[in-house]
Amino acid sequence: MPKKASPCNVVIKTAKFHPMQSLQHQHQHLILIGMMGSGKTSVGRLLAVSHRLPFIDTDHEIEQRAGSSIPDLFAAQGEAAFREIEHKILTTILQGEERAVISTGGGVVVNGANRDLLWKSGFVVYLKADPETLLGRVSHDTNRPLLRQGDPLQTLTKLLEQRAPFYEHAHLTLQVNRLNCRQIAGRIWAHYSKRH
Ligand code: S3P
Repeated sequence: MPKKASPCNVVIKTAKFHPMQSLQHQHQHLILIGMMGSGKTSVGRLLAVSHRLPFIDTDHEIEQRAGSSIPDLFAAQGEAAFREIEHKILTTILQGEERAVISTGGGVVVNGANRDLLWKSGFVVYLKADPETLLGRVSHDTNRPLLRQGDPLQTLTKLLEQRAPFYEHAHLTLQVNRLNCRQIAGRIWAHYSKRH
């Protein structure tokens, strides 16, 4: 399964998470939303490792349960089928009683039921970046089926226009164009830890 490109120049070691070390707060997940290439996975993993929380990436869970990569899933079953699986998996993940850092796929906010679930299950953080920055981070990545056809900058711009009204409802919006992962993670934690 191809790995996603990391927008961060930080080496993130695999979490040695022990369940007993986590804080048990139901429905206080730390949830990252935003476009492809905004750094949700890298920042989410860093936050989880730094604060000894479990890390869940919805795309990774989808790939595990479907037994195929996201591009293969799109190719074999289409985007609508992918969105159905995404919704089911998100529902299951958010029911988890153990507080976790959760990175979501960029399109998760398009579904209203997903938005309801996300916003009531935790602290939602939007990693906001402009289309040029996003393109710079995903241009060598073949794992994003929506960018495989047409002009990727136009696609990113259009998707961002459609999704921005949903993303902007996040509890916290962070402009991440000029920040590295450690800075982003630090700012998120400063806000989140005040509340939870
Ligand atoms: C998508 C984003 C991807 C993945 C799928 C669809 C989107 O996740 O869920 O390719 O619609 O923006 P990332 O945002 O993690 O790249």
